[in-house]
Amino acid sequence: MLISKELNNGINEQVGHELDASHQYLSIAAYFEARHLKKFAELFRKQAAEERAHADKFIQFILDANGEVKIPAIPAPKWEFTSAEEAVNLALNWENDVTKKIYALIDQAVAEKNHIAREFLGWFATEQLEEVSSMEQLLAVVQMSTEKNLLMIEAYISHQ
Ligand SMILES: [Fe+2]
Ligand SMILES: [Fe+2]
Repeated sequence: MLISKELNNGINEQVGHELDASHQYLSIAAYFEARHLKKFAELFRKQAAEERAHADKFIQFILDANGEVKIPAIPAPKWEFTSAEEAVNLALNWENDVTKKIYALIDQAVAEKNHIAREFLGWFATEQLEEVSSMEQLLAVVQMSTEKNLLMIEAYISHQ
């Protein structure tokens, strides 16, 4: 077995966090779609698919390492938002939080001298750089706009 019980448990939890993020982003996509903000909706639907792919990647790693896959219960996502800013801010906070969780898994892998797991987890750390910075940029432009001007941000997103 190429994975300790503790790391296996931590990665199972992370599968839950990725699926949680996927549901949350789908819920945010629906919020934007209902407001006819198609580009925002598209962006969050794409993010939802990416988080789901992350969950798959973690599951495959556990299987390859001969561990045990145990998907935890996923809490219901938030579905009501008062503004685009609130929704995007939630996504940014989430990404910052996930970065810390990935770091904790890497710390665990390093402590166990599990370099296969460390290498594997390194991909996710790099991925967080892109995810956090793109959410920070989106939040910054949303904050420059008023709720009535969000259509302009749609144009911004379509040029990304
Ligand atoms: Fe992710
Ligand atoms: Fe993410």
